[in-house]
Amino acid sequence: MNQASPRIVVLISGSGSNLQSIIDCQNQGLLGGQIVAVISNRPNVQGLDRARAANIPDHTLDHKEFSDRESFDASLQALIDAQKPDLVVLAGFMRILTPAFTEHYLGRMLNIHPSLLPKHQGLHTHQRAIDAGDAQHGATVHFVTAELDGGPGAVQAAVDILADDTAETLAQRVQKQEHIIYPIAVQWFCQNRLKLQQNDDGKHCALLDNEPLSSSGRLTEAP
Ligand code: GRF
Repeated sequence: MNQASPRIVVLISGSGSNLQSIIDCQNQGLLGGQIVAVISNRPNVQGLDRARAANIPDHTLDHKEFSDRESFDASLQALIDAQKPDLVVLAGFMRILTPAFTEHYLGRMLNIHPSLLPKHQGLHTHQRAIDAGDAQHGATVHFVTAELDGGPGAVQAAVDILADDTAETLAQRVQKQEHIIYPIAVQWFCQNRLKLQQNDDGKHCALLDNEPLSSSGRLTEAP
């Protein structure tokens, strides 16, 4: 790890509001690391404009130009590694990753998922939480492992589901929480406080300040 200022590469596919929250944290001098590149798998998305506005080098690697998942991930890995990152941050990066890719970045790649993991892995989480009659919904920042949305949690934020919530209104409240917890997790990692550990049984868990976190990560309640 670059101790002075850990190097962060952020991967996006869309609007990049989570990227923005991390840029804002960096601009306030609170991140403890530097975003050295933003990479999108989709051309012309808003997140690329956000990177340019913050003077962060941006790259587009269009997955549609690759014939299979393996060749795309291999090119993506080469592009990321050229930045010599200490941490890879998936911020709305809508791609299923190959096991070779997740293994390469094990312990140094984070993702944010819009649910209280392990509940509602996969897509359409807001509607699924409403349909399930859940009292709460939320978001989780977790280490990325080969299991989709299955790696150990670092930090989680919960919001109450209201009687008149739609998937859209619920998603808006959850996103506000995402923008709070993602910079926190990145900050913890840059400060060397957040780590991934492999236990004797081969399973992974996240450590904060050398203490194991619950598998969902530290829970914060919405104010
Ligand atoms: C977020 O809601 C995140 O939880 C999910 O994708 C969305 C990305 O939004 N993985 P943005 O691009 O950060 O605005």
